[in-house]
Amino acid sequence: MSPYSPLPPFQLTRALPEDATDAALRSDVLHGLTSTPKTLPPKWFYDAHGSVLFDEITMLPEYYPTRAEREVLVARAAEIADVTGVRTLVELGSGSSDKTRHLLDAFTELTTYVPVDVSESALRGAADTLLAEHPALSVHALVADFTRPLALPETPGPRLVAFLGGTIGNLLPAERADFLRAVRGMLSPGDFFLLGTDLVKDEATLVAAYDDAAGVTAAFNKNVLAVVNRELGADFDLGAFEHVAVWDGEREWIEMRLRSAGEQVVKVPALDLAVEFGPGEELRTEVSAKFRQDGVRGELRAAGLELERWWTDAAGRFAVSLSSVSMEG
Ligand code: AVJ
Repeated sequence: MSPYSPLPPFQLTRALPEDATDAALRSDVLHGLTSTPKTLPPKWFYDAHGSVLFDEITMLPEYYPTRAEREVLVARAAEIADVTGVRTLVELGSGSSDKTRHLLDAFTELTTYVPVDVSESALRGAADTLLAEHPALSVHALVADFTRPLALPETPGPRLVAFLGGTIGNLLPAERADFLRAVRGMLSPGDFFLLGTDLVKDEATLVAAYDDAAGVTAAFNKNVLAVVNRELGADFDLGAFEHVAVWDGEREWIEMRLRSAGEQVVKVPALDLAVEFGPGEELRTEVSAKFRQDGVRGELRAAGLELERWWTDAAGRFAVSLSSVSMEG
């Protein structure tokens, strides 16, 4: 860079200690593998390999949510800009900021983009790409865990906080309530919240989306075991587990599980732990809740947010909703 070039309008704030990820993984694995039934939280799917597999999932013929949400964002970006007059876009779990691209061109008043992610490398990579296309934008990246209460940088309002991709479905109902309360806490009157939610639909479509013919989702699911092997020295045999995707019609969510083929003992040296699996025993690795408009409205309202717009793709598979801060707070 020549000494006369202005500094790029990029700042990065770490709101997460360097070793926070390791401590959280240890605690999640210890707790999850000693619970009945056994569980592991889905956030540990996304190491470098898992992120590549997830990108492949989004291109599978069976996995409609990414395409359906993109259809809504492209169709409604101008309307979102119009209703909100957004000057600061905050994106929770921004990753590669892929979805953001569909919004930025339409957000004509936007001055500031605040991507929030646990991955500093993803934030830096995404900012480079976005700034090349939108050099006038200031980017204030935040390394943070968005499931925890979060202090946002001082930026111009109105703000739009976006949580896209249907990732809210990975939170259990009580976690969703806490999360939405925390989102409300980030907003002032006049600010908005943009949320992507996958919708309840027929079981065959849902199960196929989480159990694709090419086996990419199976590999993605088993990758969480590879992460525990690498990070905690465990000896999970990925071949000794089978990928399972089931629809729970009562709770209206998909569960991904890993089923132990036979009796086995898995060692996790970093935790001084030996875990027994019975034949056919299942380890739950993900809940992916599916929603209805009334349910989303109710959960938002309970958190002090008011549903203002509800848009779906033409096939009615996926919704993007826009909500404001309730008058009563
Ligand atoms: C990234 C959370 C939206 O729940 O559909 C994809 C993750 N899991 N295939 C989802 C996922 C299995 C995905 N989200």
